[in-house]
Amino acid sequence: MCGIIGFTGYSEAKNILLEGLAALEYRGYDSAGIAFFHDNRIDTVKTTGKVSSLRDKAVLSAGISSTCGIGHTRWATHGGVSDINSHPHTFGKVTLIHNGIIENYHELETELAALGKFPVSQTDTEIVAMLLDSFYEGDAVAAIKKAIPRLEGAYAFCILFSDEPEVIYCLRNGSPLVACHAKEGSVIASDMVALIKYSREYFVLPELHIARLTKENITVTDLNDNAMTPKMLYVDWDMTAAQKGGYPHYMLKEIHEQPESLRSTIMPRIKNKLPDFTADGIPDQVFDGISRIIITACGTAMHAGLVGRVMLERLLRIPVAVEIASEFRYQDPIIDKNTLLITISQSGETADTLAALRLANKHQAATLSIVNVKGSSIARESDYVLYTHAGPEIAVASTKAYTAQLSCLYLITYHFALIRGTITESECTAYMEQLQTIIPAVEKTLTLTDAINKICTNLADKEDLFFIGRGLDYALSCEGSIKLKEISYIHSEAYAAGELKHGTLSLVTEGIPVIALATQSKVYNKMISNIREVRARDALVILITNGDLEVDSAIYDYRIALPHSDDVMTPFTTAAVLQLLAYYTSVHRGLNVDQPRNLAKSVTVE
Ligand code: G6P
Repeated sequence: MCGIIGFTGYSEAKNILLEGLAALEYRGYDSAGIAFFHDNRIDTVKTTGKVSSLRDKAVLSAGISSTCGIGHTRWATHGGVSDINSHPHTFGKVTLIHNGIIENYHELETELAALGKFPVSQTDTEIVAMLLDSFYEGDAVAAIKKAIPRLEGAYAFCILFSDEPEVIYCLRNGSPLVACHAKEGSVIASDMVALIKYSREYFVLPELHIARLTKENITVTDLNDNAMTPKMLYVDWDMTAAQKGGYPHYMLKEIHEQPESLRSTIMPRIKNKLPDFTADGIPDQVFDGISRIIITACGTAMHAGLVGRVMLERLLRIPVAVEIASEFRYQDPIIDKNTLLITISQSGETADTLAALRLANKHQAATLSIVNVKGSSIARESDYVLYTHAGPEIAVASTKAYTAQLSCLYLITYHFALIRGTITESECTAYMEQLQTIIPAVEKTLTLTDAINKICTNLADKEDLFFIGRGLDYALSCEGSIKLKEISYIHSEAYAAGELKHGTLSLVTEGIPVIALATQSKVYNKMISNIREVRARDALVILITNGDLEVDSAIYDYRIALPHSDDVMTPFTTAAVLQLLAYYTSVHRGLNVDQPRNLAKSVTVE
């Protein structure tokens, strides 16, 4: 989703803005632009397409021509993808960039039209520039404060006022903004990936507070003009973590980082062979009085929830529902103080997940989140947070965050099953030993890379494909399917294998690939029968199963043999295989693996 960068300081702003936008590219966008002070006026350069096209368009000089500006990558919501709709937008003395959606923009537009003011673009953002300009009488803060009550929706703005060179005003409500002051000057951005070059210390701009960035410092005031000092946060990764490190794509790098991210997420939480959340500040009483668990999330994070449900219900014996956050928030859900809402999010900023969390908070449910980005909105607004230590995830398709989320769900299950007495201490110790075996098991799975790459040459020209599985394998099928469709653009569906006869089998014809997951011994024979059914219709079967099983070779075309692990641990190794299948299929189709068309990494608008 839209990326924001603002800089005022002692270096060439254009370079810093373009570098910042390049770092934010991973969020997903279709146009880009910058505006900067130059000779006491504001110049704007914007274009559809990539940041590299913007760089070509912006005339870069060797010396310093500007030291203050704002930059934006736009992911179109209101108004098509065009140069004119790209940000920044200027009206009168105001130039701004925006991430979010102003829901009442049409009403504001009508009011402004009555005053004889008309926009040139089709965006909600330009309307805000017009509104601010109409309120501006030489005092930027006063104009912003007048505009706020008129704005409905989520937003993060960086604003330049032509009367105040070298100053940037910022405001947010819902959409993220983080800022730091470094020796180069003051920098603000949508996320840390654009700031890390300057500082590992930063703060999250509190909602409905106004930040004023100058070369010397950043001041933050509330809407009554009271100055406040935001809490400083520290990132525990450095710039190299956000680079490709020799891999052709971020996604491949992140797939290979999984043993490490699992290690960092699991190991610090083991004490005396048992799970321990003391350092996370999660008390043992979290599940006291809880009669129902709801897991809510979007995309891949929601698929982690599907695995979590199986684990939690199996060992805690508490009913668990998994809900897509965008559905959950509008279905008048039954939530009360005996409900525990678990939200899962890599970014911690997904608009629908955040809204679901706020709904649960409003109903006084207990809230626990599993989040990767420290200090993000979801983390801050949850009663408790269990961080995944996956480091920055840049590829749009989530990989290492997913398996780290799974590991958190397993830790939660084991810890609270022990607290609730549904498992014994020795059982818990045994489960924890098993959990640690996934680290070498995933490492071993990643040695299958070349074999999986070869199999993918058979998928690259296909247009439809199915994933089938039962139980945990069905949850993994959902994840495999989304991974493949988002980056290879092949239509794919995940089906509970037992449901085949109720629909999908009519679509299985000669050569249609069926990726069959058969890792669960309890339903293994049933699964083999389902595979025979698709085989009988001449499907191209790719079987994923444990390596130590004897399988009739007549039922598959290709077999991917997982390293040995207990049934309950196969989601980790299976996930790695499915990620590689999606990755190499996309590579063979010659697509942009890391930034698939139309998709965004961090979905900060509804
Ligand atoms: C987007 C991303 C997905 C991600 C989902 C949820 O759709 O492309 O990879 O799974 O958002 O994001 P979150 O940050 O909440 O995990």
